[in-house]
Amino acid sequence: MSKNVLVIGSGGREHALCWKLADSPLVKQIFCAPGSVGISSIVKVESVDINIKDYPVLAEWCKQKNIDLVIVGPEDPLADGIVDALSSYGIKCFGPTKSGAEIEANKDWAKKFMAKYQIPTARYQSFTDAEAAKNFINNAPFPALVVKASGLAAGKGVVVASSKEEACAAVDEIMTDAKYGSAGQTVVIEEVLEGDEVSVLAFTDGETVSLMPPSQDHKRIGDGDTGPNTGGMGAYCPCPLITPEQLADVKEQVLQRAVDGLKAEGIHYVGVLYAGMMVTKSGPMTLEFNCRFGDPETQVLMLLLDSDLYTIMRACVDGTLKQVQVKWETEMCAVGVVIASKGYPVTSTKGCVISGLSQVQSQPNIVVFHSGVARGANDSLVTAGGRVILVAAKRSSLRTAASVATSAAAAIDFPGAQYRKDIAHRAFSNSVIA
Ligand code: AMP
Ligand code: GLY
Repeated sequence: MSKNVLVIGSGGREHALCWKLADSPLVKQIFCAPGSVGISSIVKVESVDINIKDYPVLAEWCKQKNIDLVIVGPEDPLADGIVDALSSYGIKCFGPTKSGAEIEANKDWAKKFMAKYQIPTARYQSFTDAEAAKNFINNAPFPALVVKASGLAAGKGVVVASSKEEACAAVDEIMTDAKYGSAGQTVVIEEVLEGDEVSVLAFTDGETVSLMPPSQDHKRIGDGDTGPNTGGMGAYCPCPLITPEQLADVKEQVLQRAVDGLKAEGIHYVGVLYAGMMVTKSGPMTLEFNCRFGDPETQVLMLLLDSDLYTIMRACVDGTLKQVQVKWETEMCAVGVVIASKGYPVTSTKGCVISGLSQVQSQPNIVVFHSGVARGANDSLVTAGGRVILVAAKRSSLRTAASVATSAAAAIDFPGAQYRKDIAHRAFSNSVIA
């Protein structure tokens, strides 16, 4: 019997999840709260306007709509305890409980957890006092220049300083000036690591981990990884900057250890565990854990997922992931290029009419995912946020996928559109790929 599911979220990541779930013959209808114009345009998908913080009402709605599974996209609702609340009404959820989400929402907790379970990560110390933090920066026996607000700061709140002065200034900003509010009451001061950053995501049912192929995000706004940090300007998969041996180490020493450690702490962790890795000269080190799918990594991962996403998610919830063979199109490559609005990441521009979409979408194996898009006058689509669209291409080589996705981004236009022309460049410049 086919099922109804509810996806929580509205971004490119949730668009990609809905797109893939819609492929499943086991899924009858997908609701997405709040969803988006792009999400609603997928067959089987309906955006719903419901307050996801009103748990009793949400639970009642889920029962009325016969929702078989709730899939939570972003970290905030997870950290707020949406899974605990819905589970108490007997509703099944793909995503960790509030205590599981601590692994992302509380960096101090995550660092202590990594130390306890011997998960490789940078040396650090945590502080609740700004003077003590600055004293540590000035006297640590290693370059302690990474300053992190311990709490959730919408992907911001981390400063990789180039001098002790800059690191101390970051402490003042985060702790004394409370730039990120209460998220900065505790700071983690960490050793600077050097290498290539790779995102390694895994499905888990709390026991078994099933790795997704490695991918790479592009945080900076400008070509050559220059300019300010953003929510992510593009991603590609698979990322060749981590060897199969290193990936096997990440599976055993990072993801499996984390899931086993969470279990030992009494936390039944279900959903996606995302390890942000730095592949250093002495091996992969954990920069952070996220308790959810990555954005924009998910958009390229979903293009390469061969198996039925609903079946995998349901197996995670049922504790039967070991029995599921998750297949990926390993011979193919996917590259996604984000098109952002004018002023991003400082500001964003709303209401600019987007052109060129239908021409791009008519090409095979090119998919457009919406991040900040709204319906304008006369059925047009207009910009409605910082990151507007991600256009992804799947091809048999990374070079071709990158060139096709970049050309597609050039063909989609609106006043002030900005996109990077070098997504996947690290895979090429490190001469891993011919
Ligand atoms: P996080 O949210 O902890 O992953 O930090 C955000 C970004 O800061 C990461 O994606 C890295 O680019 C950078 N970063 C975090 N920790 C370190 C570190 N120890 N050394 C160098 N860069 C780091
Ligand atoms: N791509 C980084 C993140 O989702 O946090």
